[in-house]
Amino acid sequence: EKGGFDHFMLKEIYDQPRCISDCMRGRLLLKEKRIVLSTINLHRNELVNAGRFVIVACGTSWHAGLIGKQLIEQWAKIPVEVEYASEFRYRNPVILPGDVVIAISQSGETADTLAAFELAKKSGALCFGIVNAVGSSIARASDTGIYIHVGPEIGVASTKAFTGQVTVLTLFALALGHELGTIPQQEYEDTIEELGRIPGKIKTVLEKDSKIKDIARTLTYAENALYMGRGYNYPVALEGALKLKEISYIHAEGYPAAEMKHGPIALIDEDMPVVFVATHHQLYKKILSNIEEVKARNGRIIAIVTEGDEAVSDIAEATIEVPPTLAPLAPLLSVIPLQLTAYHVAVEKGLNVDQPRNLAKSVTVE
Ligand code: M6R
Repeated sequence: EKGGFDHFMLKEIYDQPRCISDCMRGRLLLKEKRIVLSTINLHRNELVNAGRFVIVACGTSWHAGLIGKQLIEQWAKIPVEVEYASEFRYRNPVILPGDVVIAISQSGETADTLAAFELAKKSGALCFGIVNAVGSSIARASDTGIYIHVGPEIGVASTKAFTGQVTVLTLFALALGHELGTIPQQEYEDTIEELGRIPGKIKTVLEKDSKIKDIARTLTYAENALYMGRGYNYPVALEGALKLKEISYIHAEGYPAAEMKHGPIALIDEDMPVVFVATHHQLYKKILSNIEEVKARNGRIIAIVTEGDEAVSDIAEATIEVPPTLAPLAPLLSVIPLQLTAYHVAVEKGLNVDQPRNLAKSVTVE
């Protein structure tokens, strides 16, 4: 059932081109350059008139939520808050009329996310589920929502569910922006076309696996690592760090790269690997100067860059190239090398990749 792969995690990483196609099937209409989501047909009024979206989630799903916030704010111009479900549920949160609460959960059984969702429902918010497991508790508690349809995820480290969640959030934000007229028609169509190319581009990244494995080997004996990204790649940095922590047992922190100066830069010396997600987008020059700052302090730089990059490649110890894409779609490509890196480090250390110590696939107790 591992389809010839050594671990479920690796199989699930390699499944992503197909999963993302499945997730978009019937929703992304390439010929008509249009997105069709039943939730928008059924709940158009509540969604276009939403005063605010509040996303509740945990772990990797929370990282997907951070990307969702940027997408919805960019295209639909509706404010979004992203909350740890465990904090939200006990804070006596303000839920206003017109709020739409989105729960993101692969399993649909995470206790804190379910409780946050139920609280939102009691307060009268429209409850919108972004779930993988069909018929799960969160799916059943939803008034509406979008399944990610990436198939069962067995490895404890979430991989294809993350890219599925980000894909669904992208479709939703685009469709909502289109309904509202807040996204220019050309940008809407260009993004649809580029989404259609994403599965193929993920395949291209997967072809770099043997290089990624070599780079990962150099991280095996690290005790700490920093992950840095900006804009759409900031949550990707958080996700890369979480992947490394949970399966490789290496302490890793993700940061928005500009925050480095406010503390973490003190950690940098020749033993500190710093993984930069530095693809060619609006903040590229800014992140380049963050990379130079780390270089000046002898940090070891590993960077995810866009094909053909020169500036970062000149100063980094190692780079992994991903194909060019639009900024809002960057996470779907840049996260792949980080998933593979964590996987190879864990394998190299002889660890139980699919079932890391102390962790459960679904956290059904708080
Ligand atoms: O099933 P959920 O998406 O609600 O799970 C949330 C987290 O427990 C989950 O993403 C966890 O952080 C993963 N092990 C990360 O790889």
